[in-house]
Amino acid sequence: MTIRTATMADLPRVTQLEAACFPAAEAATETSFRARLAHYPNHFWLLEEGEALVGFVNGMATNQPHLTDEMYACAALHSESGAWQMIFGVNTHPAYRRRGCAQRLLQRVIADAKAQGRKGLVLTCKEALIHYYAKFGFLDEGVSSSQHGGAVWHQMRLTF
Ligand SMILES: CC(C)(COP(=O)(O)OP(=O)(O)OC[C@H]1O[C@@H](n2cnc3c(N)ncnc32)[C@H](O)[C@@H]1OP(=O)(O)O)[C@@H](O)C(=O)NCCC(=O)NCCS
Repeated sequence: MTIRTATMADLPRVTQLEAACFPAAEAATETSFRARLAHYPNHFWLLEEGEALVGFVNGMATNQPHLTDEMYACAALHSESGAWQMIFGVNTHPAYRRRGCAQRLLQRVIADAKAQGRKGLVLTCKEALIHYYAKFGFLDEGVSSSQHGGAVWHQMRLTF
């Protein structure tokens, strides 16, 4: 399996995998991904096995320290020199789960953010996954103000 960053040509595949991974209320739409791929294709990390898209991670860079719902909606808020790498989604195709695919992607995203001189990474997740992200060094900062999809989200931060 290999990891590469995305281009606009990946739009249908990432949209399809997102819909397979998240409930409709939480899944980013094709319109949203089109805007994100226009502003920050180099902040989409795709894990592939041959032609198959196995998983991906995406999120903007920003100087804002907290992840807000506005960031999901407005790709133009991306700042290439931003201090923080946000993570908006971690997706593994259902057929490839529990084989370390997300781990592989996250290790790469963390290494790239470090190499790019950022302060660290920020994500939000449901309570059930706090222990998973903690393995990578993310610390739980408590319940986020995010109303995304009507769920309760914890903000977690990995600071270099
Ligand atoms: C969460 C997700 C990205 C994990 O991908 P993966 O490639 O299977 O992850 P890894 O193989 O690196 O790690 C698997 C570990 O993740 C944790 N995990 C995965 N899903 C979990 C869940 N629903 N509840 C609790 N822990 C979970 C477990 O610790 C698991 O380890 P185990 O198999 O020993 O129990 C994948 O299940 C997915 O795409 N889910 C739907 C989208 C989603 O919820 N993304 C996260 C948003 S914050």
